[in-house]
Amino acid sequence: MSASFTGRTVALCVAGGIAAYKAVVVARLLIQAGAKVIPLMTASGARFVGKITLSGVCGEAVIDDMWDPKFSGEAHVAIAERADAIAIVPATADLLARLAQGRADDLVAALCLVARSPIVVAPAMHPRMWQHPATQHNVALLRERLHFVGPVHGAVANGDVGMGRMSEPEAIVAAIGEALGKRDLEGRHVVVSAGPTVEDLDPVRFIGNRSTGKMGFAVAAAASARGARVTLVSGPVSLATPPGVARVDVRSAIDMGDAIDRAMADADALIMAAAVSDYRPRAVDPDKTKKSGDTVTIELVKNPDLLARVGARRGESKHPVLVGFAVETRDLVGYARAKLAQKKVDLVVGNLAAHGFGGDDDEVVIVGATSERPLRGSKRAIADAILDDVVMRLHA
Ligand code: CTP
Repeated sequence: MSASFTGRTVALCVAGGIAAYKAVVVARLLIQAGAKVIPLMTASGARFVGKITLSGVCGEAVIDDMWDPKFSGEAHVAIAERADAIAIVPATADLLARLAQGRADDLVAALCLVARSPIVVAPAMHPRMWQHPATQHNVALLRERLHFVGPVHGAVANGDVGMGRMSEPEAIVAAIGEALGKRDLEGRHVVVSAGPTVEDLDPVRFIGNRSTGKMGFAVAAAASARGARVTLVSGPVSLATPPGVARVDVRSAIDMGDAIDRAMADADALIMAAAVSDYRPRAVDPDKTKKSGDTVTIELVKNPDLLARVGARRGESKHPVLVGFAVETRDLVGYARAKLAQKKVDLVVGNLAAHGFGGDDDEVVIVGATSERPLRGSKRAIADAILDDVVMRLHA
């Protein structure tokens, strides 16, 4: 059996074949190894194994309807966002044919089209179906895009013997572990800040900003999936905590600073994705402030620069690895490089205000002392690219 799956989410898709009953064992093994499993079924999969059995094992309702109203027609996209890997157990000849053609005619096929995570398929079918030139042609096409585990030679459901028997659940789980890839942050403590800070003016009003926290949460999810112990210090956002992540909710920059300082005691890296308010009101009114004149002046005082404070403490040492963010409206690389020096950090991820807020994709430049790496893609892919750099520096 492969290493721990803690912090990793697998979308387990059950298609229609007798071997579907073994998918329940695959789900069980994944969960025992620490994974979160999202159970999905094709219409024919649901004929072979009980939905209640699978949802009971996974602790989550089986999703089998592309049109489930709770996803507003975007179930495939929502699941793709959550899943670190997709496993199709068993993969039928029909599903392989549909995947080879790039069809999106049911939830599982649509998920495979929209997903950016690795897809593992465990074919199971009668040996004559497996050997049919149509299937072999599809498999040859799919080998470039998917990870195959099996089939193996042996007895199939009707007693015939040949190539077409599904791999055993343990082998399938090992293949999923391999496809999930690196656990290069195992044993490391990564601190991530995310979201806005909120500076209260009185009990009902505050100064805030447009950060949604998605980038920081993507970094936390990616670091956790790569084996790190993750502390996520988050301002007020409406996002679910990624699996395996310890979350500390804060409000103001001062609170965030305290939480970060505490977490940094044994940290290997800080990724400072939060949009920290540079100023706070000098005084917070304990009662709701009543309106008075036509204009009001709010006096603001400077907040500490939380990242620069950690940078100053680190001094000449390169440990922990420090990563800042810079949202700019112009001269992205120039400002990012200036912040690198001012804050004494290793990397600054620059993005333009026009791109970053609220979306799932982003366009950034990862700026190091002597490097500039432009990147465009999902926030999760960008998070992984940042972590690749962090891992390299941890090993340096
Ligand atoms: N940051 C911080 N503490 C602050 C302000 C910013 O730790 N009080 C961090 C942010 O989390 C980010 C980086 O510093 O990682 C850059 O933040 P940004 O606001 O873009 O830069 P500033 O240094 O505040 O400069 P300016 O607002 O003038 O561009």
